[in-house]
Amino acid sequence: NAIVHHGSQAHAQPGCSRKMMKETAPAAIHLKDYAPPRWRILSVDLCFVLDPEDTRVRSRLTLVRNGQAEAPLQLNGQDLVLHHIRLDDRPLQPGDYHLEGETLTLHDLPERCELSLETGIAPAANTALEGLYVSGGNFCTQCEAEGFRRITWFLDRPDVMAVYTVRIEADKARYPVLLSNGNLTDSGDLPEGRHFAVWHDPFPKPSYLFALVAGDLVCRRDGFTTRTGREVDLRIYVQRHNLDKCDHAMRSLQASMGWDEDTFGREYDLDIYMIVAVDDFNMGAMENKGLNVFNSKYVLARPDTATDDDFVAIESVIAHEYFHNWSGNRVTCRDWFQLSLKEGLTVFRDQEFTADQSLRAVKRIQDVQRLRTLQFPEDAGPMAHPVRPQSYIEINNFYTMTVYEKGAEVVRMIQTLLGREGFRRGLDLYFDRHDGQAVTTDDFVKAMEDANARDLSRFRRWYDQAGTPLLEATGTHDPETATYRLTVRQSCLPTKGQPEKLPLHIPLVMALLDARGREIPLRLEGEDSAVAGERTLELTAPTHVFVFQDVPELPVPSLLRGFSAPVNLRFPYTDAQLAFLMAHDTDDFNRWEAGQQFALKVLQGLIEAVQAGQPLMLDARFAQAFGQVLANGALDAALVAEALTLPGEGYLAEQMAVVDVDAIHQARQFLRQALGAALGDRFRAVYEATAGAQGMDATAMGRRRLCNLCLAYLCASGEAEAVALARTHYGSADNMTDAMGALRALLDCPGEARDQALAHFEARWRDDPLVLDKWFGLQAMDAAPGALDRVRGLMSHPGFSIRNPNRVRAVLGTFAMANPVHFHALDGSGHGLITDSVLELDALNPQIAARLVTSLSRWRRFDEERQGSMRRCLERIVAHPGLSRDVYEVASRSLD
Ligand code: PHE
Ligand code: ZN
Repeated sequence: NAIVHHGSQAHAQPGCSRKMMKETAPAAIHLKDYAPPRWRILSVDLCFVLDPEDTRVRSRLTLVRNGQAEAPLQLNGQDLVLHHIRLDDRPLQPGDYHLEGETLTLHDLPERCELSLETGIAPAANTALEGLYVSGGNFCTQCEAEGFRRITWFLDRPDVMAVYTVRIEADKARYPVLLSNGNLTDSGDLPEGRHFAVWHDPFPKPSYLFALVAGDLVCRRDGFTTRTGREVDLRIYVQRHNLDKCDHAMRSLQASMGWDEDTFGREYDLDIYMIVAVDDFNMGAMENKGLNVFNSKYVLARPDTATDDDFVAIESVIAHEYFHNWSGNRVTCRDWFQLSLKEGLTVFRDQEFTADQSLRAVKRIQDVQRLRTLQFPEDAGPMAHPVRPQSYIEINNFYTMTVYEKGAEVVRMIQTLLGREGFRRGLDLYFDRHDGQAVTTDDFVKAMEDANARDLSRFRRWYDQAGTPLLEATGTHDPETATYRLTVRQSCLPTKGQPEKLPLHIPLVMALLDARGREIPLRLEGEDSAVAGERTLELTAPTHVFVFQDVPELPVPSLLRGFSAPVNLRFPYTDAQLAFLMAHDTDDFNRWEAGQQFALKVLQGLIEAVQAGQPLMLDARFAQAFGQVLANGALDAALVAEALTLPGEGYLAEQMAVVDVDAIHQARQFLRQALGAALGDRFRAVYEATAGAQGMDATAMGRRRLCNLCLAYLCASGEAEAVALARTHYGSADNMTDAMGALRALLDCPGEARDQALAHFEARWRDDPLVLDKWFGLQAMDAAPGALDRVRGLMSHPGFSIRNPNRVRAVLGTFAMANPVHFHALDGSGHGLITDSVLELDALNPQIAARLVTSLSRWRRFDEERQGSMRRCLERIVAHPGLSRDVYEVASRSLD
């Protein structure tokens, strides 16, 4: 942590840093130990006198006892200098309170009292980017999860909700804009070129939703009229040179506001909604009440600086933070174990929003890819935890794919089980019942049950059991009785602390297809009539047998449609059946999935061939099925592009008993090259047909995606003509999507064209950090020899800074996550580089350091040599003196 050691100017010592406590092994916090707060804070008056080196924070808390009379008041604080403390306007002396470590304790307080504190903090020295810090010369805050305690002493827990009034004082020339939550109630000038602003937020909120911004910013303004006629002032604050990159963010905000009214009946509740873009930010964005703070990556976009994927990501993050106003702010979490209450639900809501803005099936495919490549590995490794964790050392380590993405899948399954209308009824009841409260995931499920008269008790296990369940299905057809027996068995491997897994309630959406690809009407044994189309089977026991009647011939089952549950499914399909489903399944998602499963089988064969030293051959049936998708003009371009994208190296690694990064890479590269060569004419034709798409609508984006994919296959084939095409593609690109598409394709083609294009890109964009990150990322993932030196070179590029999380993610994150061949180089050099960086980072920003350590956590999956190298790195990390609890937790968990 950026431990700021202040001198003790005041009569109290600064709080002992977390680092210093580390030497005595940090303690875990357990869900079972939850107890309600013993004090409530009715209102908070804050006054900030801003100064980068020594900011003074005066706070006045109105406290009311919420428990037994003996209960002392214990406030949280971290790296604070306590200058003054008064109780009901009586100054306290050091003997009147107890300050130890990160706790300030006061005994024998009256039932109701006012506590006034003045603390000192040093925002400019704050490199952890938690609490109040400086980014680009401006002040901003980040308080989730426990950052408010770095600002002032407080009951820093989400079940303590208070009404905030915030006064900000600062130099007017340097900090002309002064912002906080809620509405501006006063502002004016002060002597000596200073000024002030007062903000009042009428909605009681937990401290993690507090925000303050002060700086030299300009804003893009617009408005939104809610369905009941409230005029909302919308403002996006950025640095002046970025003012021309806010249009898309503004449109996305307006679209989100309209969508939440139309879809879930949720209306905005303040007169102003502000978004501030900052360059130094640990996460994507933060939903502070009325004053979102965003990583500038998720705000700034112009077609020449941001790719289509960036545009879509911005839209979804803007939506996500906006949706939190209800799912998170109006109804918040009782404690941090309930994090998925707001995050799983809000991810589900933003996924649905994006699906409605574009092609639903494509969105679903992308979300499932993300889940499978990032969440499944987490759930199968040493960091595995339930959607509602039982314990943690550092809560920042639990902003995970499991809490977010699996949490969203859990909410989606509830919708599948209850139907869209039933789900909406449940959500309405949840918001009605709990408005203004801090609640639990149980309260959420209860509302769903109550609104639908359904029992979800077995379903609740999804919140408490870690691990990805496996569904093994088989089918047998009996021509005599014209029946089809589908047997489905569920199981789940043990995870740490959960040796025995109980069966889950799993919705299995399915259909049976006849030889022509039509859905067979379904009638189960004991039912009177058949139902056309698909149906949702509910699995609740270890094994189920479903007997379908009136099935005259052997059908091909289409199972887990739309990925109706976050599970691995096994069904013994033949290649012919997979090719059939790829062409005929009436479910878009499952058509894609059949192609992925077919490609997986082919790639697994190739991996084995590489390992056995045998020649690699292109599977003719696969190439044919692949070519048919490419030639299918009836399909949407975006869907074709998804279908033609081979499973990633990470996903392939997950399927192996012992990961062989080299064989995986060779096999996949071979298949790309062979397909590029075998289907060259078709790729070229589709390239020509899709090139030059204009506009930012979903159709144009889909065409660009397909066009760039064709270019990549053509380049993978290695033909000189393809390289020339990519060079032209780069040279004539009038948008970032095509420019990046060309660079990506050229990455496979060492030579002058590639070097020139990369150099040109750097020269063109070296002053735009967000664009330069793309250049960093491309080279960090480059599998060509010499990766380590390349990455070191990037780290000494003037545009790189280890203090900026986006830069670290672009270079080190990409290297560790997307360059397996070199990260896992046999000599351990890749592991070593990441380890050195982790230790350097940990002293500055533990959150970012801890995220990087996760790349080493699954060491048991590799061969002996790599296991040894990774394990030694983890041991070196754990042994490092003064380690943060963030890194300690990830590294030590990975080892035991
Ligand atoms: N709550 C934020 C979101 O999901 C993420 C976040 C967590 C940001 C912690 C900063 C710190 O929208
Ligand atoms: Zn969120």
